[in-house]
Amino acid sequence: MCGIVGYIGGKNAQDFLISGLKRLEYRGYDSAGIVTLSEDGSATLLRAKGKISNLEEKLAKNKRDDKVGIGHTRWATHGEPSEKNAHPHQAGEIYLVHNGIIENYKELKQQLKEHEFKSETDSEVLAALINSFYKDGKHPLINAVVQALKLAKGTYGIAVVSKLSPDEIVVARSGSPLVIGVGHGETMIASDASALLGHTKQAIYLNDGEVAMIKKDSVEIKTLNAEPVSAKVEEIETNLSAIQKGGYDHFLLKEIMEQPDSLTETLRGRVNIEDGTVRLGGPGLSEGQLRKIKHLIIVGCGTAYHAGLLASYYIEKFTPEITVEPVIASEYRYRQSYIPEDSVALIVSQSGETADTLACLREIKKQGVTTIGIVNAIGSTIAREVDGGTYVHVGPEISVASTKAFTSQVIAMVMFGLTIAQAKGVRSSILKPYVNEIYNLPKMIHETLESVQDAIKNIANKYANYEHGIYLGRDTAYPTAMEGALKLKEISYVDANAYAFGELKHGPLALIDDRFFELALLPKGELYDKAVSNVQEVLARGGHVIAVTNEEKFDLPVDDIIRLNTGDIFAPILMNLVSQLFAYYVTVAKGYDVDQPRNLAKSVTVE
Ligand code: G6P
Repeated sequence: MCGIVGYIGGKNAQDFLISGLKRLEYRGYDSAGIVTLSEDGSATLLRAKGKISNLEEKLAKNKRDDKVGIGHTRWATHGEPSEKNAHPHQAGEIYLVHNGIIENYKELKQQLKEHEFKSETDSEVLAALINSFYKDGKHPLINAVVQALKLAKGTYGIAVVSKLSPDEIVVARSGSPLVIGVGHGETMIASDASALLGHTKQAIYLNDGEVAMIKKDSVEIKTLNAEPVSAKVEEIETNLSAIQKGGYDHFLLKEIMEQPDSLTETLRGRVNIEDGTVRLGGPGLSEGQLRKIKHLIIVGCGTAYHAGLLASYYIEKFTPEITVEPVIASEYRYRQSYIPEDSVALIVSQSGETADTLACLREIKKQGVTTIGIVNAIGSTIAREVDGGTYVHVGPEISVASTKAFTSQVIAMVMFGLTIAQAKGVRSSILKPYVNEIYNLPKMIHETLESVQDAIKNIANKYANYEHGIYLGRDTAYPTAMEGALKLKEISYVDANAYAFGELKHGPLALIDDRFFELALLPKGELYDKAVSNVQEVLARGGHVIAVTNEEKFDLPVDDIIRLNTGDIFAPILMNLVSQLFAYYVTVAKGYDVDQPRNLAKSVTVE
């Protein structure tokens, strides 16, 4: 949430900042700004409401050849999206960009009488606080930053520059990510390593409670208590091509179509098809520890929560004597839940930075429960704080709506469940069908995408003007329906809700009329016939049903039908591809911004 960039070196800082902000725009895009400093101490501050393209228009009239600067793309928390609330914020000689929330900003603001506040943000309070310690610039900037941060409560990733010392940037973090890119004669900062690609592959990930003084050829890190920290330089694994559209109109479509490959990466080296087993090295649990597990808690937000819910249905099917409890992180962190003995918690997050998920992780760890990350972003905070973990390795997911991460999160969790079942001695005749289908799933995803894309586009055009969607499923198709409905509402703004088929007659059936369509997920299996009866109930009330099924015998007179020719156990994963493409094409038909839906952000680092 909110993107931060910074540059100090020999190149044009404005150019770096703008291109970096564009890469981070998925983190927030309601306003943006940059400030650069010249050697003689003058500053050029440019800010604009809306997307980075608006900022670029201002830049065209204010080109400078400054070599140091910081920038920010905002997702509003305090104060509406506007130019005055956009970062960087100025106080005296300093400028600050901030990602996070300063919780005690009101108290602090009352003590800062000398500063004339121009915005409604908590971030400007932090800028003013730093300035109150910096005053005439006689003390080092880093000291003023440290003094201020000792008084600030909340979360932050910040970067600060001063007109009085244009050869340095001071950065600090607590709860919001910050990466320092180390180049040759240049140093960069960003809230996500993707902004550094093409400039350097060497990165230092700042930890909570650390502050750094950055110059063009040095990085000095210490804790807020002035203990020096030796910087660990790590290699950035992502490549530039992974964050480009690669010929697709939108990142979302690219990421949907990439799923055969991204799932292949998740499976790499983890499935042994000959003996029908899976092996995950990352969790680091011995056979004995796996055998003892009686309770699994799965924590996530949004799509990651849905992935946990779907995985829980599967894991319960093949793992005896185990209960699985999928929970929404923002709720769970404040509940007084009893965690039974022999529990393990799976912490699911694409970004590895989601504030609520991270808070749960910390709470759960305090209770002595083993935590295992199911994370995509390598080196992210959650990945670093869990006891062990399995990276899903889907590569960068840029579009705000999560697609390829979902598929791989589900399968990574099912594989973790399989390792428990293997350790508990579950018969291989029960587990092998799962392992076989997981192994074949990338191919099945490929076939499905190929066969349904055009049909879905046509159907989506037909339904693009409906006001409401009802997504229906039962058993494993129910969490899938929930994820499908989320996808539609988050990008097309069509009101969509999911119900378990069995719940229809307990209320939602009353809704059905011409403003609604119903998307029914009907995988083959034990509950197929029951779900079909529920579809009949909808049809009898004049519903507009789109059926998605892999059952050849399906023959109800629905409005539209999407038949899948493959898939058995994991048919719901394939059906979810249908929902993903449907949401995409409805949004394209409506002409909305597919990759950056209004009001949302990809990485939610505030509560
Ligand atoms: C945001 C994103 C969602 C995502 C959720 C959890 O709301 O827009 O797509 O599912 O956060 O994100 P995480 O990075 O923890 O998986």
